[in-house]
Amino acid sequence: MKTRIVQRPRRLRADPVLREMVAETEFSVSKLMLPLFLTDGKDVQTSIAHLDGCFTFSIDRALKYLKEVRQLGIKSVLLFGVSTKKDAQGSEALKKDSLIVRGIGEIREHFPDLIVATDVALDPYTDHGHDGLFEKGEIPNDASVEVLTEMAILHAKAGAQIVAPSDMMDGRVGAIREALESSALSNTLILAYTAKYASCLYGPFRGALQAQVIGDKKTYQMDSRNRLEALKELRLDIQEGADIIMVKPAAWYLDIISDFKHEARGTPIAAYQVSGEVAMIQAAAKRGACDLNRAILESIHCIFRAGAEIVVTYFAPALAKLL
Ligand code: PBG
Repeated sequence: MKTRIVQRPRRLRADPVLREMVAETEFSVSKLMLPLFLTDGKDVQTSIAHLDGCFTFSIDRALKYLKEVRQLGIKSVLLFGVSTKKDAQGSEALKKDSLIVRGIGEIREHFPDLIVATDVALDPYTDHGHDGLFEKGEIPNDASVEVLTEMAILHAKAGAQIVAPSDMMDGRVGAIREALESSALSNTLILAYTAKYASCLYGPFRGALQAQVIGDKKTYQMDSRNRLEALKELRLDIQEGADIIMVKPAAWYLDIISDFKHEARGTPIAAYQVSGEVAMIQAAAKRGACDLNRAILESIHCIFRAGAEIVVTYFAPALAKLL
């Protein structure tokens, strides 16, 4: 006698409308943040190796590009400086009229409803390529925090609504929060790169920055073998005053995103789909190994499914078109 099947999960998959109705994961363009690279000069638009469709823009060109971006419904950007003025201290980062400071001002003026976040780290401005200072082969923690805090305040004063320290120094979120409070900038958000791993996936990004790292970043970025340690970083960043906590890279670190979802207790979680993740998808699609649009959507759905509320991705414009 044939056993009768009572539960048939396929019933819910039989029709596209039903599939939409029961889909557990949904997102809109509002959830996406677009990284944007700014550089000195005028009328500059340079393509970035291994990142199709991504460019480094001078501020005037960035404003033109942002017009398109806004039309696609994208509502926030994460700014990076691409500077040729590099030295050991990263002095360019603290200039009152630095590229980023001017960029923030112009973007806020032309697009007042756009949320502008800025990356806070010294690597675009240092000749050693590290996110902090570099002395006798080491990255001094507290001295680096002082410089990074100053940089964050500069960005916030210029009008950035969000500062995003990506340096992984100990205590930097607390120091920035304290400095924001005492500078009458208590409404500025801190998006902390909380679990940022020492990853091989930052290659195209470092190429875009023309950053040559002496050695590696393993004394401050996390070891990819560690999961529980991310929870320690999470506790500290929340205690120190982070508003949003971020996991980076994203797709190889879905367990961390999922842990954060359960442990953050209401603090929103962002995930950064980094340059290497995007480059791998584009390269695979170019070689015919997968369909580009399907791969983009699947990669993003999985990051949201794991628990992210916000995804920082170079695919934001492509996704906006796909949605
Ligand atoms: C460092 C920083 C990096 C990225 C964002 N901020 C690279 C690094 O840590 O070396 C990587 C982003 C990407 O790969 O897309 N300030």
